[in-house]
Amino acid sequence: MSDNTPKNIPDQGAFEGHKRLEKNVTLLAAATFVTVAIGGIVEIAPLFWIDNTIEEVEGMRPYSPLELAGRDIYIREGCYTCHSQMIRPFRDEVERYGHYSLAAESMYDHPFQWGSKRTGPDLARVGGRYSDEWHVQHLKDPQSVVPRSIMPSYSFLADTPLEISDISAHLTALNRVGVPYTDVDIEMAEADLMAQADPEMDEGDLAERYPKAQIRDFDGDPSRVTEMDALIAYMQMLGTLVDVDAVKAQEELARETAGEEPSS
Ligand code: HEC
Repeated sequence: MSDNTPKNIPDQGAFEGHKRLEKNVTLLAAATFVTVAIGGIVEIAPLFWIDNTIEEVEGMRPYSPLELAGRDIYIREGCYTCHSQMIRPFRDEVERYGHYSLAAESMYDHPFQWGSKRTGPDLARVGGRYSDEWHVQHLKDPQSVVPRSIMPSYSFLADTPLEISDISAHLTALNRVGVPYTDVDIEMAEADLMAQADPEMDEGDLAERYPKAQIRDFDGDPSRVTEMDALIAYMQMLGTLVDVDAVKAQEELARETAGEEPSS
């Protein structure tokens, strides 16, 4: 205590080394690169070894061919320019639209339809909220059911037969980017599509391969399959695949066990 020698000063050698680094641009650049690379590797490398960055939830499945065709019409018509499909975990949104969206619910979306603009309401859980007749009426003439609506009319969808010849190719393309369609799904795509929109037809094992698929005539015209059928089939499926109450219970259980771990 009595001597005045300062403590905690590193030896001069370390200072000299750092001085050299600061004065030599090439050395500094090389050292910077190495430091940043370590950070990058730590963040990126694990992604090569884990199978999936999304936690899977029960019930989520690839879209059925009819739903997929409807989704294409949704994108073609630009519905996403006015409607989002992502309920954020805020109280006001959850009270209005339902349980907040889970990452797994859009795991098969190419491209995803989260959206960034809400001129109209969020549609992530619109499935089952209205009847098919309501949707037909609303799409043909929105103001007839919601007088102050600014949504445009899409009445032509009911008069346009659905183009189905490319549906197998569509499933194949999605399969290549990781959507788990099987060979049977791809082979049966056209038949599955027709069967889902026509309750008179033999649907085969459609309901086993696409659980919760709603099989019926959607547009009120059983004589043919229109773009309206496909779009409404897609709308009525949105948010219905995952049992969010079961997921909620699962999350709570996980939280509880995680909280108990340190004490055990
Ligand atoms: C110009 C913006 C706009 C576009 C484009 C648009 N909508 Fe809407 N949509 C609205 C608005 C505003 C409402 C709320 C009033 C109403 O129900 O009509 C709405 C309501 C809806 C609802 C009812 C939602 C609910 O929870 O009450 C559905 C379903 C819907 N739209 C589907 C679609 C589909 C499908 C398309 C594309 C074919 C589409 N919309 C295109 C503006 C739009």
